[in-house]
Parts: sequence; C-alpha cells; structure tokens
Amino acid sequence: MIDRYAVIGNPIAHSKSPLIHSMFAAQTGQDISYEAILAPLDGFAATVERLRKEGYKGCNVTVPFKFEAYELVRELAERTPPAGAPTQRATNARAANTLKFHENFIDGDNTDGTGLVRNIERILGVSLHGKRILLIGAGGAAYGVALPLLLAEAHLFIANRTPEKADQFALHLGKLGHVVNVYNFPNEADRKQFDLIINATSAGLSNELPPLPADIFAPGALAYDMMYGRETPFMRFAREHGAQVADGLGMLVEQAAEAFYIWRGVRPDTAPIIAALRT
Ligand code: ATR
Repeated sequence: MIDRYAVIGNPIAHSKSPLIHSMFAAQTGQDISYEAILAPLDGFAATVERLRKEGYKGCNVTVPFKFEAYELVRELAERTPPAGAPTQRATNARAANTLKFHENFIDGDNTDGTGLVRNIERILGVSLHGKRILLIGAGGAAYGVALPLLLAEAHLFIANRTPEKADQFALHLGKLGHVVNVYNFPNEADRKQFDLIINATSAGLSNELPPLPADIFAPGALAYDMMYGRETPFMRFAREHGAQVADGLGMLVEQAAEAFYIWRGVRPDTAPIIAALRT
C-alpha cells in the first residue's frame, strides 16, 4: 500500500506542502501520497490519533498546532519510554512541525530552523558564520529558527514589539546556553546595523511593517521575510533601503525537504523545485 502523509493546520487550504511533497516524490521516485487536513482548533490530538489509526506514516504540522504537537509527543514519550521523543531541535524550539508515526509512539522534530539556514546558506549563498543577525518576533516562528541560527555561529540579536516577550525569548535561549542581545527598536540610542534581518513576525498578514529604523541594513545586507506569496511591507521597506530581499518560499521548500528526509531517508534536490514554484 502507498505510504500516506499529510499536513495538519487551521487554516490549511492555502498550503503548498502537498504540491511540494508530490514534486519531491516524483523527483526521488518515492511512492507516497500527501494531503492537507484541516483540524478543528480543539481537535489537533484527535486528528493525529485518527491518522495514526488509519495507517498514515507521519505528518507535518503547521499554524497554530506546532506547540501542541511538541507537547503531544513529549507526553506520549513520558508514557512510553524510551521509544518516541521530541528531538533536540523540537525541544529547543518548544515546537514540532514533523511527526513520524510508529506503532506505539511518535517521533517529533522541527525542521523549520534547519530549513531557513539551508535556504540562506546553500541556495542564497550567504554564509551566516560571524554575521550580525536581527531576528524580529518572539512567537512560534522565531522560536523555531533561533537555535539553528546560533549554531551557525552568528551573532544573534532579537527584537519584538512587546519587549517582555523578547526578554522571555532571550531567557529561553540563555537556558539553552546561548547569550543573545535584546534589541529595542526603533529608537535605541546606539544605532546598530545588521547583515541579516529576519522578519519572523506575523505583521505582513495584516499588511503592517515592524517598526524599523531606515539605517538598520548594513551594506550588502539580506532582508529575509519568512512569509511568502507576495511582497510584504517589510520586504518593500528593505528593498527601498538597499537590502537584498528574500521571501520564505525557499525556507518552506527546505523545511519540507528535511521532513521528507526524516520520513523517507532520501534528500530531494530543492533548487529546481524552488525555481519551478516561482514560475
Ligand atoms: P507565530 O507562531 O506565527 O510566530 P505568534 O506566536 O502569534 O505567531 O507571534 C506573532 C509575532 O509577530 C509576535 O512576535 C508579535 O509581536 P507581539 O509579541 O508584540 O504580539 C509579532 N507581530 C504581529 N504583528 C506585528 C506588527 N504589526 N508589528 C510588529 N510585530 C508584530
């Protein structure tokens, strides 16, 4: 029987994951199916249980269920040790976006940060080593990518509209052994410039721009918006102030490729798929 996978979210109709995974399957000769499943906001765990019972091999998890997915895997792991657990990547992010189903347990991983780093370093050709990075946001998207950025040996600054949440985020990273600086935009006295500015906020959804000073972009800076599909105010602002701009489509494909690798043990070639999705 064909191996079945899915992505669970709410909303989910817009998801490009079924298309991306079908392209991976065609490229690598893997016989799988992959569908988008809408779970009720209070029905994530029940949806996972249903998929497991129906024999699915795994699923991706998207907004707003990534934290819940992590908690679910953690709780199951406590009940059925030692098999099944969140990976270190999921634990660091406190969120899971890739579940692999086994008969009596579930593995949970988080491929978002790895996907972002791969996209920036391998596809966009920008090395993160020693770079000054400003990560804007302190929600799930930002938590998902912070550790992989730090592990790429970059100097990470974090900023958030609500400063208390940036402080909590810094504390969380501190507990994981990483010192990060909290940057208070927009009027910090010692103005700083960054080589990479990552928008991990949901401001673009409401067509808003996080409050950024115009001189925040170092010469040759890359501005990366984790959203995709259209130019956000952040992308426009960055372009108008001389930065190179990237949207989150590459990250989407890379995080999917990492999930595909976890499930199938085969790594798709992402560059042609990103290119095909852009046309
Ligand atoms: P996600 O899981 O997608 O990260 P989230 O947990 O709701 O979603 O987090 C949204 C992030 O976007 C938060 O950091 C939020 O800032 P606050 O903590 O101040 O709410 C940020 N955000 C949303 N709209 C914004 C805006 N217009 N300007 C700046 N930041 C914004």
